[in-house]
Amino acid sequence: MHLLDQLGRPVVIAHRGASSSAPENTIAAFREAVDLGAHAIELDTMLSADGIPVVIHDHTLDRTTTGSGLVSRLPLQELTRLDAGSWFSESFSGEKIPSLQFVLDEFSDQLMINIELKNYHSPKDNLAETVIKMVDRKKKWDSILFSSFLPGNIRKVKAANPGAKVALLCAEGLSGWITRSAFYRHLSPEIIHPAAVDASQEYIKRQHQKGRRVHAWTVNNPMLAEKLFRSQIDGIFTDDPASMMTLIDIISL
Ligand code: G3P
Ligand code: MG
Repeated sequence: MHLLDQLGRPVVIAHRGASSSAPENTIAAFREAVDLGAHAIELDTMLSADGIPVVIHDHTLDRTTTGSGLVSRLPLQELTRLDAGSWFSESFSGEKIPSLQFVLDEFSDQLMINIELKNYHSPKDNLAETVIKMVDRKKKWDSILFSSFLPGNIRKVKAANPGAKVALLCAEGLSGWITRSAFYRHLSPEIIHPAAVDASQEYIKRQHQKGRRVHAWTVNNPMLAEKLFRSQIDGIFTDDPASMMTLIDIISL
């Protein structure tokens, strides 16, 4: 059975790991999420110059590493030489950009992993095919939730394994209207990932009536979280899993 079906509701998904207390998308952030008792981690992945999926959010290196320029310009070996921790705090200097393979090897036995396929600047590359092969080789379909803002990525995962858990990500506001609408429902009929601002009580209720789970991103404000929990949200992405787990306990969901 898939891990998602074994978890209670709401599911707390550590966004880029526990990214309020450790540098996002690093092993330190994922370990911290596990230690804090998050139900799942979310990560972003794209291809290196030599076609290896690496875990990083931006398509450029400048914000979160000591490198600069496009991630897709450097091979894995050069990417892993960069420091991906000191921008956050000197105490994390030496953290690296992890390969997706390493993260799967390290964490896929421990908790659910939401892999966001983030080839938004190279939508015709082989990211989805490469990640699908990796998950298949590890026989870890039951631990992975795939998501992407690109419908094509969701189609590829479903074509490879109709039983895979997939969720279409929806942009915030008007630009995400079409992906939130019935027009795209066939792509991810089980789960949808809207921005928190679009996850109204009515929206959640309508999705539930269609048998669809709603996981909202990215929720760090306790008042917003409480509102979503009371609206029966199925899951939230948060940079601060510790506070959200505590809040769930306090309001005894
Ligand atoms: O998957 C939820 C969230 O991660 C989507 O936005 O930009 O943080 O990857 P972003
Ligand atoms: Mg993401």
